[in-house]
Amino acid sequence: MSDRLTGSKSGALSGAIDVPGDKSMSHRALIFGGMAEGETRITGLLEGEDVLNTAGAVRAFGARVERLGPGEWVVEGCEWKSPEAPVDCGNAGTGARLLMGAAAGYPIEATFVGDASLSSRPMERVLGPLRDMGALTEGSKLPVTIRGGGLKGISYVNAKASAQVKSAILLAGLRAEGEVEVIEPAPSRDHSENMLTAFGCDVIREGESIRLGANRALKAAPVAVPGDPSSAAFPLVAALLVPGSEVTVRAVMVNKLRTGLFETLREMGADLTETNRRSAGGETVADVTARFSALTSVEVPAKRAPSMIDEYPILAVAAAFATGRSVMHGLAELRVKESDRLAAIIAGLTACGVTAYDDGDTLVVEGQSAPPPGGGEVAAHHDHRIAMSFLVMGLAAQKSVTVDSAPMIATSFPGFTDLMRGLGAKIV
Ligand code: S3P
Repeated sequence: MSDRLTGSKSGALSGAIDVPGDKSMSHRALIFGGMAEGETRITGLLEGEDVLNTAGAVRAFGARVERLGPGEWVVEGCEWKSPEAPVDCGNAGTGARLLMGAAAGYPIEATFVGDASLSSRPMERVLGPLRDMGALTEGSKLPVTIRGGGLKGISYVNAKASAQVKSAILLAGLRAEGEVEVIEPAPSRDHSENMLTAFGCDVIREGESIRLGANRALKAAPVAVPGDPSSAAFPLVAALLVPGSEVTVRAVMVNKLRTGLFETLREMGADLTETNRRSAGGETVADVTARFSALTSVEVPAKRAPSMIDEYPILAVAAAFATGRSVMHGLAELRVKESDRLAAIIAGLTACGVTAYDDGDTLVVEGQSAPPPGGGEVAAHHDHRIAMSFLVMGLAAQKSVTVDSAPMIATSFPGFTDLMRGLGAKIV
């Protein structure tokens, strides 16, 4: 079977759906559960390949990790031991970096490997602070070997906002002697802080500083993982672009450190509403409804990037349909995601007849004020979010859009194609 998929002009999309569980929280639930005393029950776990690799890794470190049913897992934590074989993190930067931090706290040795994309991504951002804490490391890209244990504290000032770096330091810090602090230039997603607190660990947040307190023992706690806003983005933007559409995604996590895209879309004139806001699994969730909207261009400030870092590919697609020139600042990190996303976005839009270019770390998209031509074959570079973004573009562009490789979508959004087809999307 071909790996290609094509999105074509669709009639109005409609329906109410659930999207898979949040990827960031799913990785964390497995890792924290694997380090905690007792049995952690997880519901709504994202069963995408990235997270399944983390489940395998936590098992390799000695924890009991069992699947009870769809999205329902139990993890029994333990003192981590050296895994017998290299730990395969697949495509997942979050899995790799958080596992490295967690492993560094134990007197063990582990080698981490991953696929071609992950093996080309920078790991020094995590390994540097772990070495400062006393871990021994080999390699700056995967494969990386870590010898941990006997760590000391750290006060780490990060030049960029990164939840992965922050989380790796906090996880290593659980078993370190002394003060452990991370200072960020802007707040990155705070799921680690929220979940560590739910697991009984003292986490102190003061302005830009996040510190571990005296009590650093983790006690198992139930985790109910809400819908991933980064996945909800695709059906919601599709509804904004396809005339006559109305789509609701139920129970989406709306933590304000994750909803920069929703804020930006509203600035563009999107009819995007949240109802039934409630608390679930320690996070705020809401049902989010998108209705077809005429969009106008937007300028997105660099300071908003941490709250929508994974959403620029789909925002760039939305911007292509808008009236006027959209400008997005502060996107240097996009170059080191699952692919060089800045380059992939520009190449994909160009292939679909849209003018787009970068100016340093800024992305500029010339909106078409109408459905863009489409008709392109887009190189997804084995990047799930690039593939999904351009399939969405094809649903409303003048001509179909084909992505050269779609299987990677399963890393974060298993069932994407069927769910979209159920709303009326033509994806074959
Ligand atoms: C994530 C943090 C972000 C994000 C990634 C998930 C996390 O990366 O892009 O998809 O779960 O901590 P950075 O920490 O590198 O910004």
